[in-house]
Amino acid sequence: MTEHVMTMHPREAMAALVAPEGRRDPYALYDALREHGNLVRIKPGLMAAVGYAECSRALREPRLLVQDAKSHDLLYPDWRSHSSLRRFTDSVLYSNPPDHSRMRRVMSRAFTPRRVAELEPAIVRMTDRLLDHLAELGSDGTPVEFMAEFAYRLPVAVIGEMLGVADDERVWFRAAVEDVTVALEGISGIARLDAADRAMDELASYFARLIGQRRRHPADDLVSALVASHETGGERFSHDELVGNLVLLLAAGFDTTTHLLGHGLQLAFENPAQAARLRTEPALAAGYVEETLRFAAPVHATSRFAEADVDVLGTPVPAGTKVLVLLAAGNRDPLRYPSPHLFDPDRPDTQPLSFGAGAHFCLGAPLARLEARIALPRLLRRFPRLAPAGAATYRDRLIVPGHERLPVTVG
Ligand code: HEM
Repeated sequence: MTEHVMTMHPREAMAALVAPEGRRDPYALYDALREHGNLVRIKPGLMAAVGYAECSRALREPRLLVQDAKSHDLLYPDWRSHSSLRRFTDSVLYSNPPDHSRMRRVMSRAFTPRRVAELEPAIVRMTDRLLDHLAELGSDGTPVEFMAEFAYRLPVAVIGEMLGVADDERVWFRAAVEDVTVALEGISGIARLDAADRAMDELASYFARLIGQRRRHPADDLVSALVASHETGGERFSHDELVGNLVLLLAAGFDTTTHLLGHGLQLAFENPAQAARLRTEPALAAGYVEETLRFAAPVHATSRFAEADVDVLGTPVPAGTKVLVLLAAGNRDPLRYPSPHLFDPDRPDTQPLSFGAGAHFCLGAPLARLEARIALPRLLRRFPRLAPAGAATYRDRLIVPGHERLPVTVG
């Protein structure tokens, strides 16, 4: 495999990457692309950034735009018939200035470092409650499914608390978000969006109802804050933008953090000496989480479109080109990280690309980091004999791969 990978044409490497085999171990294919440069031309109109500096520069380049309604119109005339695409396109993630800047200013008020830090006691409480739940399920030695029973439940409880959704709604969110996030995988699989559209319709009517309730009875939560800003002029949101951004917050808020927790535990199993340190050295938590983000990026890629000819660190990118920004590849760039394929939580100055960069830098990054820094050490301390129980399984996804199942025994 390795020898073949070394001689692969970029187009061949990219084809392997989007096939199920490649998706299971993309890192060898990222290195195969890297053989051809850090910003590789795959075919006319398509390039891929695999270097750390090139990914970072591409994300900060104002003339490289995110896919928005205008670029969808050019590429996929039928995209509006898919509610999943339509509603995500109303959100910050798929908007460019001036819409992006207007919506982002309002939303970022909810994610200031102070507001996130205030959530810490609640996150500790939720973590401990879920650890009790794991103990109840598995203290007699019965295997417990970590993803379903913990890794999913913590982030959904946290974002649920922020948004102000009732506990009993969280039960159906997982399946709905699982389905709707297929629409964030890039729209080349446009034919597979039926389930995503159904899930989007359900989530959109749920949030439309919640918006109505909060309009009548405001509460101290994010939905009320966004509704208030919608109504008080200045930075206005349309109703559709409110709905699109709330679905985005729910989906981005836990689909990704769930997998950060899954990767963090998997890496603890694979690196028992580091797991032992994480149990006893509270100061290691931040470095452990940063290295988990670098080594096993929850979001592997994003993309941009060149609205004009641009130069990215010396490589010309012609107008109209789609640039795949392979964050997970940039995180393993040997020019940026010595021994990039080594998991080393003591690495100085990690700064992974995992939350993106520039104008669309992840709004929830401080929250996701906080959740993982609290949850992983507490989990390992609570269950000193925590161990894998059989083989883990993985989702068949290109952008957010992650575990499907990670069975464990809690001892
Ligand atoms: C480990 C967890 C997470 C990872 C790896 C992650 C990753 C990312 C990445 C890579 C982007 C940028 C996409 C681009 O530039 O095209 C992004 C944007 C975003 N993320 Fe996250 N995210 C995580 C958690 C969260 C959480 C917890 C929230 C909210 C509660 C959140 C909300 C958002 C939003 C709203 C955007 C869009 C920002 C914009 O377009 O201006 N994310 N995230």
